Amino acid sequence: MSILLVGGAGFIGSNLATILLGKGERVVVADNLSRGNLEILTNHFSSDLFDFRNVDISDCDQCAKLFDEYASSEPFSEAWHLAANSDIPTGTLNPDIDFKDTFCSTFQLLKCMRDYGVLKLNFASSSAIYGDLGDSKISENSGPLLPISNYGAMKLASEAICSAAGESFLEFVNIFRFPNVVGVPATHGVILDFFEKLKRTPNQLQVLGNGFQQKAYLHVTDLISAMLFVRENQDNFARINPLNIGPIDEGVQVRWIAERLVERIGRDISIEYGTENRGWVGDVPRFYYSVDKLTKLGWKPSLNSEQAIIKAIDEIAIQEEILSR
Ligand SMILES: NC(=O)c1ccc[n+]([C@@H]2O[C@H](COP(=O)([O-])OP(=O)(O)OC[C@H]3O[C@@H](n4cnc5c(N)ncnc54)[C@H](O)[C@@H]3O)[C@@H](O)[C@H]2O)c1
Repeated sequence: MSILLVGGAGFIGSNLATILLGKGERVVVADNLSRGNLEILTNHFSSDLFDFRNVDISDCDQCAKLFDEYASSEPFSEAWHLAANSDIPTGTLNPDIDFKDTFCSTFQLLKCMRDYGVLKLNFASSSAIYGDLGDSKISENSGPLLPISNYGAMKLASEAICSAAGESFLEFVNIFRFPNVVGVPATHGVILDFFEKLKRTPNQLQVLGNGFQQKAYLHVTDLISAMLFVRENQDNFARINPLNIGPIDEGVQVRWIAERLVERIGRDISIEYGTENRGWVGDVPRFYYSVDKLTKLGWKPSLNSEQAIIKAIDEIAIQEEILSR
């Protein structure tokens, strides 16, 4: 049996692949490389436990061909669905991208899972499904669920079909609602965005929005430890299991991140802020998560939001230095 990891050539998926392989699991990464990168999987190609398939999972035929290929030799024991358009502004400009990569990917994957009897699903959802709930501490029961981005809308629609599949054929479905996740290999996100801006304007950092946006940040290692904690304690969770994963604190402001990054670079850089309380259409100015469901069962993050950001700034600085050589 092998684990199907869809979107495994991206930031979080590649980290998950490394951890699962380290545990001796067989892993098949399916990714269309629209936003992922084959180079970040290079270390795994020599492993007998690892396979990669260039597949667009939102395409019915390509998805079925993948399941068919493995059905007779090493059928999938479970699926991890991390493929999506992870870039909110891109989906605002062109909603077709969110529809295809975020929603249809889930739809086609579920159809094949039903047809080929793969009954365990771990789905990467997002805090974006909650929309803008203001200053309230957000639990899994918070609402109304009114996403403010196409991305959030397609994640919520994906959750809905995961839930329906949970009712009709899945053994379980974990619907993991991620916060902002940081670390390497960074493919997007605020820290990478700042580094990229500084390549274009080395002495000036333009921040989107007024910098008072405040969000919860989790390091990717903690995110994966939480998901694997759930996997190991599956019996303690409901069969259809929506779950916030995040730090225990109230998050950090974007201006704090900009200041730490400038300190890390150690150069005279002026930080310039916009006037709006959000950076782009669909940006939630503040969210504050309750992760009680997880912590009550014994999981704790090793880093808080500030520590996760500091660690990720260091890691991404090194990534960017290496890439620029
Ligand atoms: N990084 C975060 O802060 C964050 C926060 C909330 C939720 N998430 C979710 O977690 C998941 C992983 O995020 P990430 O940060 O690693 O993003 P990422 O963009 O680095 O990875 C997504 C991967 O999915 C692949 N992909 C996209 N469409 C595909 C398709 N149709 N078929 C096959 N592969 C496809 C991309 O090529 C990429 O490798 C995504 O679903 C994302 O929405 C991430």
